[in-house]
Amino acid sequence: MTQVGGAAPPQVAMAAPGLEGVAVAETTIGDVRGEEGFFHYRGYNAAELARRLSFEQVWHLLSEGFLPDAGQVAAFRQRTSAMRSLPEQVARLLPELAAGEPFVPLTALRTAVSLTAGVLGLQPVMDISAEEVRQQGLVMTALAPVLVTGLYRAHRGEPLVVPDPDLGYAAAYLQMLTGRRPDPLQARAVEKYLILTMDHGFNASTFTARVITSTGADMGAALVGAIGALSGPLHGGAPSRALQTLDEIGTEERAYDYLRQKVESGDRLMGFGHRVYKTDDPRSTLLREVALELGGEQARFAEHVEQTALRVLGELKPGRRLYTNVEFYAGVVMNTAGIPREMFTPTFASSRTVGWTAAICEQAAHNRLIRPSAVYVGPTPPVPLPEGSRYA
Ligand code: ACO
Repeated sequence: MTQVGGAAPPQVAMAAPGLEGVAVAETTIGDVRGEEGFFHYRGYNAAELARRLSFEQVWHLLSEGFLPDAGQVAAFRQRTSAMRSLPEQVARLLPELAAGEPFVPLTALRTAVSLTAGVLGLQPVMDISAEEVRQQGLVMTALAPVLVTGLYRAHRGEPLVVPDPDLGYAAAYLQMLTGRRPDPLQARAVEKYLILTMDHGFNASTFTARVITSTGADMGAALVGAIGALSGPLHGGAPSRALQTLDEIGTEERAYDYLRQKVESGDRLMGFGHRVYKTDDPRSTLLREVALELGGEQARFAEHVEQTALRVLGELKPGRRLYTNVEFYAGVVMNTAGIPREMFTPTFASSRTVGWTAAICEQAAHNRLIRPSAVYVGPTPPVPLPEGSRYA
């Protein structure tokens, strides 16, 4: 008979808390170099892609694996804009999903993605070809903004907006949200934000999508899990909180005392700090620029608060290397472009669907079930049942 009990078997290696510094896969999608303040998509500097290219060009890069030429991107734009039409059953049920109070758009999106995947009949990735998985990724990415904006409008009793077919992803997103053809400067600002947030290494939501995909489950299941992971304030739920901080501070004179008191009382400053970046986050650098280009009092005020926050963090958290992260200016950019606060994280979810689906395709193509271990630290087993225990 096998003997059980005692200490954990020695072959189990314990990873650092939060899996920091542990690589769990090989990828060709992209990488984040925290010490250098650099991240890339398939080798291309992601901030440069956002500065110079369109959403569709970068989406094509991540999904198809290479940068398209002019003809290829035109065809891709046409193909993906034709995928924006919701299945009839989903369109019919959307108002029901959006009817509840309190209305939490990201929660509603999670449900809507699950419904859409079911209605589209997405099969387990284990049972379909790599090409079918990729095709499903395009459809789900094209539908994400339609679901996000449709839920928002349905909750307000407003009809769904069919965007002008000549509009790219970002401008169409704003039109579907507001019902108006957007100002080109604002659409371009949002487009840069959306490109910057398409992917970012093995972040928590991408990892979640990979874990679910590794079981062979369908793409809908992986996307629903990813949205769940993104919803947490430590991941995607921070931009509206960062903007809330600006509101609470109100005036420049109050910034220092407010921020200092917050950190002293053990709170975290939303929009600061990052697991990987130990220098400026290139996304925040570009978004600061975009926010200032868009103009307005809020961007200038945010810049003042940012400088003050960095000073406070330097004083109270010395040596932790805390810098501004993507979320701080994301809120300012989206707010200035007319995106309501409750839609910040859903907007992020929409662009991140590009990265999630690329990761799902990669995981499905080179799969091994992700199944780590834990080191058991409870009472030494086997613990005898209490005297007289019986079925009840
Ligand atoms: N404000 C104040 N202190 C902070 C902050 C912050 N924003 N971030 C980290 N710290 C401090 C911690 O209190 C800790 O201090 P201690 O050594 O005195 O205990 C130290 O820095 C290290 O913190 P960790 O929690 O170990 O850092 P970790 O790498 O796990 O956290 C995280 C990264 C979650 C992003 C963190 O910086 C944070 O909570 N930031 C605020 C929330 C936020 O902006 N989230 C968006 C992230 S970007 C994205 O996911 C898209």
